[in-house]
Amino acid sequence: MKQFSFFVFVLMLLASSTYASSLENSINYDLQTQELLTQIQGKRIGILTNPSCIDSSRELLFDVLFKNQNIYNYTLEYALAPEHGIRGDQDAGTLVYDYVDPQTNITVYSLYGIRKQPTVEMLQKVDTIIHCIVDVGTRFFTYIWTMSYAQEAVGDYNFNLTQKVQLKENFQLNNSQRQLSFYFREMQNHNSKKEINFIVVDRPNVLGGQSIQGCPLEIESGYIGRLFNQNFTIPTRYAMTTGELATLFNEEYLSHKISDFKVIKIPNYHRNSGFPNASLWIAPSPNMKTYQTAYVYPGTGVFEQTNLSEGRGTNNPFQTIGAPFVNGTLISQILTKDNTVNQQAQFTPVTFIPTTSKWINQTCQGIQITVIDKEKYDSVFVGTRIMQVLLQEYPQNMTLTQKGSCQEFGTINFYNQITNKNTTIQDILDSCSSNLREWKKIREKHLIYN
Ligand SMILES: *[C@@H]1O[C@H](CO)[C@@H](O)[C@H](O)[C@H]1NC(C)=O
Ligand SMILES: *[C@@H]1O[C@H](CO)[C@@H](O)[C@H](O)[C@H]1NC(C)=O
Ligand SMILES: *[C@@H]1O[C@H](CO)[C@@H](O)[C@H](O)[C@H]1NC(C)=O
Ligand SMILES: *[C@@H]1O[C@H](CO)[C@@H](O)[C@H](O)[C@H]1NC(C)=O
Ligand SMILES: *[C@@H]1O[C@H](CO)[C@@H](O)[C@H](O)[C@H]1NC(C)=O
Ligand SMILES: *[C@@H]1O[C@H](CO)[C@@H](O)[C@H](O)[C@H]1NC(C)=O
Ligand SMILES: *[C@@H]1O[C@H](CO)[C@@H](O)[C@H](O)[C@H]1NC(C)=O
Ligand SMILES: *[C@@H]1O[C@H](CO)[C@@H](O)[C@H](O)[C@H]1NC(C)=O
Ligand SMILES: *[C@@H]1O[C@H](CO)[C@@H](O)[C@H](O)[C@H]1NC(C)=O
Ligand SMILES: *[C@@H]1O[C@H](CO)[C@@H](O)[C@H](O)[C@H]1NC(C)=O
Ligand SMILES: *[C@@H]1O[C@H](CO)[C@@H](O)[C@H](O)[C@H]1NC(C)=O
Repeated sequence: MKQFSFFVFVLMLLASSTYASSLENSINYDLQTQELLTQIQGKRIGILTNPSCIDSSRELLFDVLFKNQNIYNYTLEYALAPEHGIRGDQDAGTLVYDYVDPQTNITVYSLYGIRKQPTVEMLQKVDTIIHCIVDVGTRFFTYIWTMSYAQEAVGDYNFNLTQKVQLKENFQLNNSQRQLSFYFREMQNHNSKKEINFIVVDRPNVLGGQSIQGCPLEIESGYIGRLFNQNFTIPTRYAMTTGELATLFNEEYLSHKISDFKVIKIPNYHRNSGFPNASLWIAPSPNMKTYQTAYVYPGTGVFEQTNLSEGRGTNNPFQTIGAPFVNGTLISQILTKDNTVNQQAQFTPVTFIPTTSKWINQTCQGIQITVIDKEKYDSVFVGTRIMQVLLQEYPQNMTLTQKGSCQEFGTINFYNQITNKNTTIQDILDSCSSNLREWKKIREKHLIYN
């Protein structure tokens, strides 16, 4: 029966993939699901996921894994939730608590808020941790860091097990009766615990895999960026898939790397694909409604650190920037005349009333950004220039957090630079160019797509 349904499933997949591969830019997530299912037979699994991870019929991978447990003889022990929860129904910045998913009765442990990492007790319940989340390719989005915290816990857990084996080997060498019996006792304990493997079911980077922007992070920033005891880590727009980034974290930054670590690659994916298929888009967070939003986000996300509205509570979050004290016409005119940014985007004056968040229910003025050519758009350059113009025009009214802006932009000197009238945006970006050059070499080693 199992054999039979397996073959039927494979035949269906082959049929659908033949169909899909005849379409330009097509990607077939079901082939990845199939590969995953064959690798988790007999295992106890935990999955770190959210609603962005779907199959070709838009069903959540989480639900697919829940349904196939008997056919493939594995157990879905629990889910791990990033910001906004596994079904995406929790608001930005609010803590996610542990809960039972009402549709499956599977326990969901939060990795956002009440803890960052799965505990030892949770890890003891599984053989495999699976990760599947679409990332928007921007460093200060929280999901990649939640992934890194989960990887770190698995690496440390596995390391602790090997430490015990080492201890036992020493005892054995000493070879006294007492030590030998201790050894056998410990060995029995150990045999009941196995190293955990980590599988990333890869997904495209919404911003594609080529254009790197912004500065490598120089400050420990928790959920929006980690240093791992390095001098710097990843830049704002990092141009890797989650699978590539997870490989980089594992190989370069974790204190104890996971030895059984695997990425299930996206079939037919090329690094310049961007997000190839709009019908596969599911907003990965409530304010990332379309994938056009993702193009401006690396540059305008930092407006979270100001008292201006960054467009939350409008139809175009992160594309709309303003406040009651802003003259939209003026700011639009300044930016439209500025040759460093006016080839990349249009800056239209807008009046808007945010329905949530900063300046709720108040009439704001500002600009709306329309990207002209998304391939050439330097989001970090443009976003930072907009911030500089606003700081210069509204020194009395506009506020910018010192630590927060440095953490989000990524560099120690950001606040001093952006508030100094003599510093150009190019100066700011040039000041991190040697770190960026070094990071690009590290990145290069972990690319798995052409
Ligand atoms: C996009 O994905 C949908 C759902 O899998 C599929 O029906 C469609 O053919 C795909 N389009 C392209 C251009 O790949
Ligand atoms: C299912 O997996 C369990 C745990 O690995 C194993 O003991 C059992 O034999 C498997 N059953 C089948 C039918 O393969
Ligand atoms: C979840 O548990 C409830 C209460 O025990 C039960 O009625 C329901 O059928 C369960 N749902 C699933 C999907 O197992
Ligand atoms: C690993 O061992 C250290 C030292 O005993 C302990 O503090 C830590 O919690 C353990 N971590 C895991 C994930 O097992
Ligand atoms: C084994 O014997 C060596 C040499 O006597 C000693 O240094 C070491 O601590 C012993 N190891 C253990 C685990 O008892
Ligand atoms: C960090 O920078 C210091 C001082 O420049 C240098 O000595 C050290 O080797 C660097 N550490 C790493 C991990 O590159
Ligand atoms: C902006 O700042 C000026 C100077 O402090 C103040 O007079 C004005 O009321 C402020 N505007 C708003 C909209 O808060
Ligand atoms: C806004 O700026 C424009 C362009 O500089 C100017 O003509 C207009 O008078 C300003 N509006 C207000 C209310 O200051
Ligand atoms: C904003 O406006 C809505 C709709 O009029 C109202 O329900 C809400 O209470 C207002 N909120 C605030 C903070 O003023
Ligand atoms: C932002 O600007 C307004 C208007 O000038 C001011 O009243 C408010 O205190 C500022 N917000 C912060 C957080 O400083
Ligand atoms: C900016 O440059 C001018 C001219 O070189 C100089 O006088 C001024 O002190 C500088 N201001 C700052 C804040 O560095």
